[in-house]
Amino acid sequence: MTDLDRLVRDAEDAFAQAADAAALENAKAKFLGKSGALTERLKALGAADVETKKTLGAQINNAKQEIEHLLAQRRAAIADAELNSRLSSEAIDVSLDGRGRGVGAIHPVIRTWRRVEEIFHSIGFDVADGPEIESDWMNFTALNNPENHPARSMQDTFYLEKKDETGLPLLLRTHTSPMQVRYAKTHTPPIKVIAPGRTYRVDSDATHSPMFHQVEGLWIAQDVSFADLKGVFTNFLHAFFETDQLQVRFRPSFFPFTEPSAEIDMKFESGPLKGRWLEIAGSGQVHPRVVRNFGLDPERYIGFAFGTGLERMTMLRYGIGDLRLFFENDLRFLRQFA
Ligand code: DAH
Repeated sequence: MTDLDRLVRDAEDAFAQAADAAALENAKAKFLGKSGALTERLKALGAADVETKKTLGAQINNAKQEIEHLLAQRRAAIADAELNSRLSSEAIDVSLDGRGRGVGAIHPVIRTWRRVEEIFHSIGFDVADGPEIESDWMNFTALNNPENHPARSMQDTFYLEKKDETGLPLLLRTHTSPMQVRYAKTHTPPIKVIAPGRTYRVDSDATHSPMFHQVEGLWIAQDVSFADLKGVFTNFLHAFFETDQLQVRFRPSFFPFTEPSAEIDMKFESGPLKGRWLEIAGSGQVHPRVVRNFGLDPERYIGFAFGTGLERMTMLRYGIGDLRLFFENDLRFLRQFA
């Protein structure tokens, strides 16, 4: 084995022993560096005669090329090994479940809200929206519920410190009924409107929440009768619950803003709630005094109003037993409506 062959072999061994890229660069310097073994030999060649220069020079160059080739091979091998070890240490388990993307859904009460709007819209009712902070006059007095009247205590609510121009404190509306007045004062008959929205009362248990949703209905013209109320509301219930297997009855009741007044009950003739009368809405012929507060002549205009709870409608439609489920935001409950 020539001296140069040995050198190549030594380089091969040194490269093989280099465990990483840095060690390999050090090993390279020993052979190909400025004062490396090969460079030294080339320098020494300067003093040799022409013939030696030619043959030995060519041999040294061959050895150099061989060493460079070995170096490139070892570099590639080290890079491969480093990549493989990174791949195995940073491996991801592709069989794990993904995190997925949560699918948003409409809240069940809002579903009902939209459904009610759709149904009434389809029979010519306008949809109106109004303020949740109301004046005492709109919420009570205009609806024939005078100050100090005991009927007011049925609707205890939250008062604001701020007062309106009459000196009475503003309040969170206890029902959507003030929307009758707001809408009727700004529109001319025939008036056909529903007003869904949030309402507030000091009340909290399995069937009452301090914030809840109602929808108000109002139809005022020159010839609207109680029969129209019965027809409209019965049809609405059939559409909402998607069944004709449903009876409706109007039970005499009292509300200050209607005369006569009726509580509307319904009874399913099939399904899990079959056979029980369920209270679903308040209603009645709008009281002449309220019609006057609309800015209309009660001798000329007549009509009906109704108000119902959207939570209650939702509970009956989906068979939900506890009102609080709507406000606890438990995803296990809400997901069922996604
Ligand atoms: N505002 C009443 C309540 O909150 C419900 C109601 C009853 C509304 C009779 C009406 C009505 O429009 O005519 O209890």
